[in-house]
Amino acid sequence: MKIFIDSANLTDIEEGLKRGFAQGITTNPSLLAKEPKSSFEAHIGKIIELIKKYQPGIHLSVEVFSRDQKTILEQAQKFIKQFAYPQMSVKVQVGWDELETIKKLSAAGISVNCTACMSVTQAVMAARAGAKYVSLFWGRIRDGGLDFDMPRARDAAFAKKALDKNDFDPFWVVKSTRQILDQDKIPSEIIAGSMRGAVDVRDARLAGAHIVTVPPKFFPDMISHFKTDQVVNQFLTDFEKWLS
Ligand code: E4P
Repeated sequence: MKIFIDSANLTDIEEGLKRGFAQGITTNPSLLAKEPKSSFEAHIGKIIELIKKYQPGIHLSVEVFSRDQKTILEQAQKFIKQFAYPQMSVKVQVGWDELETIKKLSAAGISVNCTACMSVTQAVMAARAGAKYVSLFWGRIRDGGLDFDMPRARDAAFAKKALDKNDFDPFWVVKSTRQILDQDKIPSEIIAGSMRGAVDVRDARLAGAHIVTVPPKFFPDMISHFKTDQVVNQFLTDFEKWLS
C-alpha cells in the first residue's frame, strides 16, 4: 500500500514527509486555492524543496487548470520543463477530448495522472489512452448515489444505462477497475482519492487501489487508537510503580 499526502499545505506536507510514511504528494487547483495567495510556480517549487529535503524522488502530481486541450498540452509541457522534477506526474481530468491529450502527453514521455475519475469505464479508458495513474474519487463516487446529490443527472444516466447502482459503491468501482487492469495486464496504477476518513483509506486499499492519497487531517486518526493510549499509559504507570 502506498500512502500519498493529498495537500498543497506546506506545513502539513512537511509534517508528513519528515515521518517517512508517505511515498507521494497529490495537489489539485482547489487545494492550492486554500493556501495563502502566491505564485503557483513558487508554491510548487516550495513543495519540491520539501520533497528534496525529506524524501527525494517521491511522486508529485500537479494538475492542469484548463478545459481547453491546447492549453492543457501547453501547461503540462510547461510544468515538466519548468519544475524539472523527474517524478512529476501531470494531472489531467478525465473526458472524451482529454483522452487524445492524454495519449499525446504519454507518447511524449510525460507521466499522466488522469484525475476526477468516478467510474470503471472512465478509469480503464484513461489507462488505455496511456495514463500512468488513474485517480478514482472514492468520496465523491459515494456522494453521487445520495438522494440530494444531482438526482436528475443520476436518473438520466440510469435511463440510458450509462451507469447503474454499482457505480456509486466506491469499493465496487475500485475493485472492478483493479480487476480489469490486472486481467488485461494494463500497467496503470489506481490512486484512490477523495477520502473522507481513515476507514475509507483502509477500504480503498482493500478494494485494490495501488495508492491512497490522504488529506493530512486523517493521519492522526490512522495512527492512533484509544486502546493504544490505554495500554501505553498502563505500561508506564506499572513501571513507574516498580521503579519507585
Ligand atoms: C486527489 O488527487 C484528489 O484531487 C482529491 O482527493 C479530491 O478530493 P475531494 O473529492 O475531497 O475534493
